[in-house]
Amino acid sequence: MGAHIVSIDGFFFPQGKSYFAIIQTHGYIQFMGWIGLFIMGVSLYFFPRISHIPIEAKKTNWILGLISVGLTGRYLAHNTTPYISAPTVFSVLNWIIFLSTVTVWIGVLFYVGSFGKAVLKARGTSALEKLNPIKGFMFMTLLGWVVYNTVQVGLTWEMLRSNSLILDVLWNEWSLQAFTLLVVIPICFAVSVRTFPLYLRLAPIRWQVEYLAMLYAIAIAMELLYLKGWWTIAGMILRSVLVIWFIWKIDILTRFKAPWTHYQKEPFKLDRQKQPRDGYPDYGEWGRFELLVYSAYFWLAVAMILDIFRIVSIYTRLPILIYPDAVRHLILLGFATMLIFGMAPRMIPGFMKKKMVAKPHWVIWTFWIGNISVIMRVIPIAFTGKSFTVFSGALYGLSGIFVLIALVLFSINMWKSTVVDS
Ligand code: HEM
Repeated sequence: MGAHIVSIDGFFFPQGKSYFAIIQTHGYIQFMGWIGLFIMGVSLYFFPRISHIPIEAKKTNWILGLISVGLTGRYLAHNTTPYISAPTVFSVLNWIIFLSTVTVWIGVLFYVGSFGKAVLKARGTSALEKLNPIKGFMFMTLLGWVVYNTVQVGLTWEMLRSNSLILDVLWNEWSLQAFTLLVVIPICFAVSVRTFPLYLRLAPIRWQVEYLAMLYAIAIAMELLYLKGWWTIAGMILRSVLVIWFIWKIDILTRFKAPWTHYQKEPFKLDRQKQPRDGYPDYGEWGRFELLVYSAYFWLAVAMILDIFRIVSIYTRLPILIYPDAVRHLILLGFATMLIFGMAPRMIPGFMKKKMVAKPHWVIWTFWIGNISVIMRVIPIAFTGKSFTVFSGALYGLSGIFVLIALVLFSINMWKSTVVDS
C-alpha cells in the first residue's frame, strides 16, 4: 500500500478514490501488523527469559489469531469501500472495518493482560527488581497499545455512524503519534538497554535509565495532552532532546566508552580454534546485523534533530520547511524497520535454538537496500514536501519497491533460519 501510494505521487498519477483510505490502512497495518506483531512475538518470548517471570503461553495463539483476523478484515474492507456506491454494501463494509478493529483491540487486551498478570504475580520479587531500569519504558509500551487501539475502535465506530469513507484525520494523526511515542520508541529503548552491551560489546549500562524514562514520559504527556500551545512545543522539544540523550548515553553511534568486557575481572576463555569478529562476541554467524542497528539509531538521531528544527521553524517563522511525513518515516522506516532488520537475524534464530541465521551474507544486502529505500522515501520530501521534479519524484516513487526487495530478503532469511540445521 505504501509502495502504491508513493508511486502515485512520485509518477504524478491521479490519486483515485481510494488514496486516503489506503494511506490510513497502510498506517494501521504497518503499526499493528509489521511492527506490532514483531514486538509482541519478541516480547512474549524475551520478557519471561530476562525476568524469569512466566507468561501464559496458551494465550499466544489467541493473540495471533485475533490480530491476524482483524487486520485481514480491516485491510480488505477499507480498501473496498472507496469503490462501493450502494449504501447498504458500504455500511456493511464499514461494520466489517469496525468489528475488525474491535477484534484486534481484544487481541491487544489479551497481550497487555498477559503481561499485567505476570507482573502482578511477580510483585515484590527480585525478578521484577531486575527490570527496574526498563520498567518505565515497558509500562509506557503497554499503555500505548491500549490507547492506540481504543482510539482506533472509537474512530472506526464514528466512521460507521457517520457513513464516512475515512477516519477523522486529526484524531487518527494523534493516535499514530501516541503509538510512535508510547510504543515504538520505548520498546526499542528497553530491548536496546538489555541487549546492546552484550550483542555489540558496548559500555555497561551504569547510568539511571529509569530517570530518563520518567523525563521522557513527562515530555510525551506534555506533547500528547495538548494542554496549552507552549506545553506541547516544550514537550516535543524535550522529547527529541531526551531521545538524542539516550542515543548518546548508550554510546551506540559514538563508542567513546570502554566496552563492558573491559571491566571483566577474569578475561574470557575463548575457543582458540576460532577468533570472534574484532570488537564483537560473535563469529559472523548473524551476518553484519550491527550495521542495521547503527543505521537505525543514526536515522532516529536525524529524525529528532529535524523535528526540533521543524518545531522551532514553525514557532519562530524561520524559513525552513521540514515535512512532518519525512520525520515520521525516518522514525518508522529508518529507525524501527532497520532495527527489526538488524535485531531479528541476531535474536530470532536463538529463540529457536539455532546457532546461526540461515544466510548471514544476506544481512548486509538488507542493510544496503533497506537504507537506500529510507533515503529514497525521505530525502525527496524532507525540505520541499510533495513538490517533485521528475527525478525526485522517481526516487520517491520507487522507494516502496526497494523496501519490498529488502523485506523479501529479510523474510526468506528468517523463514530459512527456522528450518536451518545448526
Ligand atoms: C518504503 C516504505 C514505505 C513507503 C513507501 C510508505 C509510504 C507512505 C505514504 C505515501 C504515506 C502517506 C503520506 C502522506 O500523508 O502523504 C504513508 C503514511 C504512513 N506510513 Fe508509510 N511508508 C513506508 C513505510 C512505512 C513504515 C515502515 C511504517 C510503520 C512501521 C509506516 C507507517 C505509516 C503511517 C503511520 C502513515 C500515516 C498514515 C495516516 O495518515 O493514516 N510507513 N506511508
